[in-house]
Amino acid sequence: MNIRKLTKHEVPPMDLLLLADPSISLINDYLEKGECYVAEIEERIVGVYVLLPTKHETVELINIAVAEEYHGKGIGKKLVLDAIQQAKRGGYQTIEIGTGNSSIHQLALYQKCGFRIMTIDHDFFIKNYDEEIYENGIQCRDMIRLAQDL
Ligand code: COA
Repeated sequence: MNIRKLTKHEVPPMDLLLLADPSISLINDYLEKGECYVAEIEERIVGVYVLLPTKHETVELINIAVAEEYHGKGIGKKLVLDAIQQAKRGGYQTIEIGTGNSSIHQLALYQKCGFRIMTIDHDFFIKNYDEEIYENGIQCRDMIRLAQDL
């Protein structure tokens, strides 16, 4: 598997990006401001993430996703670790990531990759999404924000 930066001339893998965020307009906004990385196996894009500079010396890892048939094979972990290396190379001091309170696998993955829970944005998903979201039998209400020093 090879992970590389997508050039501005290439078409981003929208089907994969939509697995992590249902809003096309938000995704287009992130793609405009951030850098998109893809994981390829035999020239097929199987994973994606976006690094978005936010505050001073801080970058946010957003829209990480792996094609469903490749879940549970360690690709997500490789993408998170690659994002951390790219952020280090970019000279950032902190990398952040946010996920829902119901995203149990994601919370496990990010903590295994060195992130720590910093803050909770209570009712973020109630306020910002029209539909109720349920995962793992839990309503997704709060945004858990994690970070690590680089
Ligand atoms: N059950 C339990 N834990 C699981 C799991 C499952 N089915 N799938 C992944 N995990 C957790 C485990 O903690 C695993 O660690 P381990 O290898 O030490 O056991 C860790 O995640 C890494 O698994 P990995 O195989 O690298 O993850 P993945 O390739 O399946 O990708 C996502 C993980 C989150 C990127 C993938 O599930 C995905 O694309 N989801 C949809 C989009 C999304 O939710 N993006 C995140 C938005 S915040």
